[in-house]
Amino acid sequence: MLMIKSDIFIVKSLLSGIKNVNKSYHKPVLYNLNLESELKAFEALLTSNKNHLKIANSLGNQLIELYLTRHPQCQFSKSERVEWLEDWKRKNDIYSYGTWVYYPWSDIISHILPAKEFIELRTSRNKYKIDEEEQASLGQKTVGIIGLSVGQSVALTMAIERIFGTLRIADFDHLDLSNLNRIRSGLSNISIPKTILVAREIAEIDPYLKLELYNEGITKENIADFIGSGDSKLDLLVEECDSLDIKILARAEARKQGVAVLMDTSDRGMLDIERFDLEPDRPIMHGMVSDDAAANMNSWSPKERLAMVMEMVGVEQISSRLKASLLEVEQSIKTWPQLASSVALGGAITTITARRILLQEPIASGRHYVDVDEILNTPSNQKNDTTISFKPAALSFETCEAIVDDLKKSKATEAIILDKESIEDIVLQACWAPSGGNVQPWKWIYKNGILSLFHDVHYSYSFLDFKNRGSLIGLGAALENVVQRAVYRGYKAEIEILAKDFDDRFIAQIQFFANEDRRRNEFLDLGADLNLRLTNRMKSKGLKPIDEELKSKIFLHLEGSDFAVKWLEGEKLKKMAQIVGAVERQRILDPWGHKDFIAEARWTIDEAESTCNGVDLRTLYLNESDLVGFKLIKDAEAITHLRNWDKGKALIKMSIDSLENSSALALVYTNNHSAESVLNGGRIVERLWVYLNKMGLAYQPVSPATFMFARLGIDDPSSSPYLVKELSKLRREYLDLLELPESVNDLFLARLFYAKEPTIKSLRKPLEKVFKIMR
Ligand SMILES: Cc1cc2nc3c(=O)[nH]c(=O)nc-3n(C[C@H](O)[C@H](O)[C@H](O)COP(=O)(O)O)c2cc1C
Repeated sequence: MLMIKSDIFIVKSLLSGIKNVNKSYHKPVLYNLNLESELKAFEALLTSNKNHLKIANSLGNQLIELYLTRHPQCQFSKSERVEWLEDWKRKNDIYSYGTWVYYPWSDIISHILPAKEFIELRTSRNKYKIDEEEQASLGQKTVGIIGLSVGQSVALTMAIERIFGTLRIADFDHLDLSNLNRIRSGLSNISIPKTILVAREIAEIDPYLKLELYNEGITKENIADFIGSGDSKLDLLVEECDSLDIKILARAEARKQGVAVLMDTSDRGMLDIERFDLEPDRPIMHGMVSDDAAANMNSWSPKERLAMVMEMVGVEQISSRLKASLLEVEQSIKTWPQLASSVALGGAITTITARRILLQEPIASGRHYVDVDEILNTPSNQKNDTTISFKPAALSFETCEAIVDDLKKSKATEAIILDKESIEDIVLQACWAPSGGNVQPWKWIYKNGILSLFHDVHYSYSFLDFKNRGSLIGLGAALENVVQRAVYRGYKAEIEILAKDFDDRFIAQIQFFANEDRRRNEFLDLGADLNLRLTNRMKSKGLKPIDEELKSKIFLHLEGSDFAVKWLEGEKLKKMAQIVGAVERQRILDPWGHKDFIAEARWTIDEAESTCNGVDLRTLYLNESDLVGFKLIKDAEAITHLRNWDKGKALIKMSIDSLENSSALALVYTNNHSAESVLNGGRIVERLWVYLNKMGLAYQPVSPATFMFARLGIDDPSSSPYLVKELSKLRREYLDLLELPESVNDLFLARLFYAKEPTIKSLRKPLEKVFKIMR
């Protein structure tokens, strides 16, 4: 071997382009010893670095393998191999054959075949999944990759398969230990830029591949350069970065230049294909980002950005594990999870798609899933829905009539038989009453001058409506409306409560009389305002305290009745918010509670308008991030995960935010525990609610705590021991805070605040569905 002593600076100059020794080394130095200058430099390298250099000389092996690959029928024994190589060496100068490759980051020198033979041998096992012509064509392609987590897997898979000749990569980030759950690298590489790592890995696999690095990542300034134009234009872009701005920026530029874009999302094997090369007017991200929105990106708030990212990934389609994890971000984990298996799969599916696009196969734009978990979830693997699904059949008007007839009751002599218009108006107004989840569990019939009210459990059967307490409050509220509206129309309504037990379906009968008592009382003169009452779920305009005079009016109105109001403000309100939040979490984590929670929501306008019941999502006035949270919570499997991990603290936070944003919490309570007193409590709740709304106060019930606590102390098979334990603990804190005894019947808790008037009113079922005049 020739040894030429030379100055170390020659070597250094050969390694030109390498800045910041060590960390930035990423280019292998290739020596063709048939060229005098390179020969000299190589010998200088050997001399100067002789104590460190490691030489991996496997050219003999490569030569034999190349021969065998070219002669597939040939079977060499071990000795025949040696003989063949010796013969080859006699005819050729092995030292100067091919290329010597020096890797400055590891001080390793490899001796490899010349480019053409190297590529032929290294891709020989691709044949004929990729034929020679295709492989050669792919070798001419330039691919760009932005973002090198999934991008690293894509880059390496593409390099190994050799579907490009030049790779342009961009990432501003460096390797951290926590990346090593998914990025194939070693500990010694921590804190090294990701671009450098990818370039080194590829150089070690195939030093003939060309790499172009953008270590600063993608910016507005360099995106045009990165995508290129004319001869420098990418043949394909793979976008795998986390930044929304860069995602949009890159697509806008790719579209301008007619470059196809691929993106893998490392969850459920989701792959997006955007053929801007074939569809120059194609909207960005399949139309999820409008050109206007893209142009105004700078003015987006962080929450709008989050919502946009979630829209782009299709938040409702992501895996349940990811949904549950996203709910834990900044609670019990720092950021969203990504697995090596998903990243590896992403590398694979992106490479397959990229290859086919690069080979001009007719691959259409769109979103696809290669969801291995779903493939493995054969029916026998899927868990049964264990939530309780018993629901009584709906009550018919005929059944109601038969029950009424059975009672054989006739109207009082002085009772007035109302005309159609009057009774319809009164019932219509009664139906503006509130009901839990807006289920409107009422059925009315009017026969022989008597209005009868029934509880239709078909609509109200739910986890929260334990012992029908919520329904009885709603039905009580409807009765109050009958009374108020009757007064407004010049009548006096007399109610006879028939429900003796919480399960009774026949609730009450009402007769109407001439109203001789014309005294004005602001709590009993609300008949004109019944459909102005509403549930306001907005944020408050500021925490203005509730007027003391208003409170004392309410106190005086209730004085002497069975009912009273407890007010919580300031610190006590904050503590109660924590308790209520914790109960709300338990409710959502409960399978049945969760099922109801989701079922009562009307997710689209169409859904709200076609059912005319349930809680229209628009009436929740959610901000973008809460809306994302809601979409995540929708998934029962994600909730099961949170329950199993005893997590889901974000659920507490969602509820606390609005509670703390209130002037006061008000609890209507009594010491009486009968079904009748819950109904009458409903009347009081409605009266105060309409009155407070009229006084300009916003009102929102906060019912999960009171309704969930109602389960305690009763042998309830649907509650787990865990739930009972948690609720008992919270109940003790709750009563301490309210300074009320265990024996209290806490009926209805609500938040009061000053806010804008909501613009969307929740709908009611058409009157004919709930009311019938019987002859
Ligand atoms: C028993 C009962 C419980 C309720 N619980 C809640 C609640 O926890 N949170 C809430 O925002 N609204 C609650 N509401 C309000 C209803 O969702 C609301 O009355 C219904 O959707 C109709 O809308 P409206 O009140 O605007 O007419 C409750 C109402 C009743 C009668």
